Amino acid sequence: MRVTQRAQRIEPFYVMEVAKAASTVAAQVAHTNSPMVFLNIGEPDFTAPPLVQEAAARAIRDGLSQYTPATGLPQLRECISAWYTSHFGVSVPAGRIVVTAGASAALQLACLALIEAGDEVLMPDPSYPCNRHFVSAAEGTAVLIPTTAAERFQLSADKVADAWNGHTRGVLLASPSNPTGTSIAPDELRRIHNVVSQHGGITLIDEIYLGLSHDAQYGQTALVLDDQIISINSFSKYFNMTGWRLGWMVVPEALVPVIERLAQNLFICPSTIAQYAALACFETASLAEFERRRAEFKARRDYFIPALKYLGLDVPVTPDGAFYAWANCRTACEKLGVSGSWDLAFTLMDRAHVAVTPGRDFGHADTHNFIRFSTANSMAQLHTAIDRLKVLLA
Ligand SMILES: Cc1ncc(COP(=O)(O)O)c(C=O)c1O
Repeated sequence: MRVTQRAQRIEPFYVMEVAKAASTVAAQVAHTNSPMVFLNIGEPDFTAPPLVQEAAARAIRDGLSQYTPATGLPQLRECISAWYTSHFGVSVPAGRIVVTAGASAALQLACLALIEAGDEVLMPDPSYPCNRHFVSAAEGTAVLIPTTAAERFQLSADKVADAWNGHTRGVLLASPSNPTGTSIAPDELRRIHNVVSQHGGITLIDEIYLGLSHDAQYGQTALVLDDQIISINSFSKYFNMTGWRLGWMVVPEALVPVIERLAQNLFICPSTIAQYAALACFETASLAEFERRRAEFKARRDYFIPALKYLGLDVPVTPDGAFYAWANCRTACEKLGVSGSWDLAFTLMDRAHVAVTPGRDFGHADTHNFIRFSTANSMAQLHTAIDRLKVLLA
C-alpha cells in the first residue's frame, strides 16, 4: 500500500524501541536477584491521587460520559485559570485555555493552526523528538539548532536571530526541557521572544514540566511575558496522569475560535471522564499531594546527579526541573569499549539490567555522546541502579 511522504518523514520514536527491548530483557530477568530497573521512560511512578481516582469513579457511576465542548469543561478551564493565579501569580482567563487530549494534541492543534507547508520552526538540539514530527505532520520543517551546556541546552536570542530567514515561522521551545530538565533563563526567554516578535513570528513554548520546577529563578510561566505567547501544558507530569490523556493550551484570544474549530473536527473533545476526574486535582488535598511528590522528585535529583557524576557520567547542567538527567557518556563508552550512547544503552540493559534512553531520539548534534536517565522512579530503585552501574563503571 502506498503511504504518504508525510507519514514516511516521521522517524520511529526510538525511546519506544529501546523500551520494547528492555521489556524483553526484563521478562528474562524478572525472577532473578537482579530484575530490570527502568530509568528510560519519562513518566511519573506515581498515579493520580485518591480524590482524582474517586472523582473518575463517580463520573463513571453518574454516567457523566457524554461529549463535552471541544474546548473542554468550562469548570475545568476555570480551575486551570485559578491555578495560574494561585501557583504562578499570573492572570490567565479561562476563555484562553483549551483543554486537549494531552500536550500531544495541543501541540498538533497549534502546529496545524499556525504552520503552512514550507514554514520552518526553530527548536533546540537536543529536544523532545515528537515536536519535530508535529511540525513535519503540518508540512513544516523543524530546524534543529545545536546548543551548548553554557546555553543550558536551550536556544539563545542570538542563535534565533542568526537562524531566522524568509521561511522561518517561529520557535518551539520547552522549559524545563525533555531530555535535559533545564529551563531557559527568564531574561534569555524575553530576548528570544523579542526577536521572534520583531519578525512577526510565533513563540510556542511547551511548559509541561513547569509544575515540576525545583528552582524559583526558573519556575515562572512564559505567559507573564506576553498574551501572544502560546503555552502548552498537561496533566501528565506534575499531576501524574499520563495515561488519562489530558492537557491544555493557552492561546491568544483571537486564536481560540480557530483552535476550537480544529479541535471539534479532529478530536470532538478530550476524554470526559478524565476531565471530571481532573477537577479534583485542584482540591486542597490533591494540590498538597502534588507538592509532596514534587519535593520527592527534587530529593531524587539531589541524590542521583552527584552519584552519576561520581561514576564519570557527567551531567553538564544540573536540571532545575522535570525528572531527567542528561549525562555525557563518552568516558563510560570508552571504559566499556562501546561506540556511543546507543550501544551503551543496550550494554547497560544487558549487563547491569538498567534501562536508559540513548541520546539519538533527541537530535543529531552531539546526542551520540549523551544518555538520558529518567529519575521518575523510587529512591530505592535509583540506589539499586547506581550500585549496579558502579560495578561496571567505577
Ligand atoms: C516535552 C514533552 N512534551 C509533550 C509530551 C507529551 O505529553 P502528553 O502526555 O501530555 O501528551 C511529553 C511526554 O513525555 C514531553 O516530554
